[in-house]
Amino acid sequence: MPTESALKFVGAPTWEALSGHPVHTGVWDDVNQVPHVSLGRWADLVVVAPATANLLARAAVGLADDLLTNTLLTATCPVLLAPAMHTEMWLHPATQANVATLRSRGIEVIEPAVGRLTGADSGPGRLPEPEDLFARVLAVLAAGPLAGRRVIVSAGGTREPLDPVRYLGNRSSGRQGYAIAEVAADMGADVTVVSAHVGIPVPHGVDVVEAGTAADMLDAMHTASADADVVIMTAAVADFRPDAVRESKIKKVDGADPEPITLVRNPDILVELVGRRRPGQVIVGFAAETAPDEGALLELARDKVARKGCDLLVANDVGGERVFGRDTTRALILDGSGTVLADVAGTKVDLARRLLEAVADRLDDR
Ligand code: C5P
Repeated sequence: MPTESALKFVGAPTWEALSGHPVHTGVWDDVNQVPHVSLGRWADLVVVAPATANLLARAAVGLADDLLTNTLLTATCPVLLAPAMHTEMWLHPATQANVATLRSRGIEVIEPAVGRLTGADSGPGRLPEPEDLFARVLAVLAAGPLAGRRVIVSAGGTREPLDPVRYLGNRSSGRQGYAIAEVAADMGADVTVVSAHVGIPVPHGVDVVEAGTAADMLDAMHTASADADVVIMTAAVADFRPDAVRESKIKKVDGADPEPITLVRNPDILVELVGRRRPGQVIVGFAAETAPDEGALLELARDKVARKGCDLLVANDVGGERVFGRDTTRALILDGSGTVLADVAGTKVDLARRLLEAVADRLDDR
């Protein structure tokens, strides 16, 4: 159902030939079938892709000046809008207010992708890739393989405070955890991400609980995982923390060596969660290793899956700037007995998809 503006990009004959259906934009064609009401009532789902800033504004105020906006007013089914526009238009308070209004009415407005736009500019505002839109459609129709499942994903790196200004941290960016949360939501799951110091936006449709230290994360994961079907420990949890947090900033003293810092062990959250696993719950661990070769990585991974007792383990070699902060990764997925189920080289989203397929298979078997 193209708008007048859409027909300036792709003409009606192209739409008609490709779809095998007549194309109308106004409300004055086939009036005997009352299409401005009947189409909205008939549809199982209305998707507007791309949704321009103008369409979002018309939908938000309830204008009914063409067939599409009439249909949006009469639709009783779920409605999914995929905005695409230049970054300035997307970030403009008027557009953001329209998006908030539409979401408050239960309409799903997808977060646009970040990337090259129609000019030389790039930024948020790009139409998501067709396969991502399709995954959303499946999720909205609750046909995804994780529909009705509750999934908890930890992400990012914990920071263990030394004094009021310093901490011990690590280089985890949270990208892999957020990619898993996003793909799980696309597959229909109800997703909560327990997030430690992640600098990227939370995927749309995912709940977030902040947990900055290993101790905070332990509490948050216990609470969140109590009724979960799937628990995925992607976070880089500090193995050690300073034995005490100094109340004031540690000072340098001329001529004196710094005071040594004593470290104590943090609890292993993954092992604790495995110890309290609900019947049927699937628990996934990660192993970020620096291994000299593939054989050594596999050995470390097999040892870890046995020690931790999780159902699945993702092992990657994080040495040599290959993984941290990047969009790509290379990883092995192992089951609880140490058998390699997949060797994935690709984006963090590719790894998330492959991992969640393995999770869904396990849930189906239980
Ligand atoms: O033992 P290692 O730190 O290599 O194990 C990594 C896995 O264990 C990851 O899934 C990580 O989230 C989890 N972990 C944990 N609590 C810790 C340390 C690691 O849950 N204190």
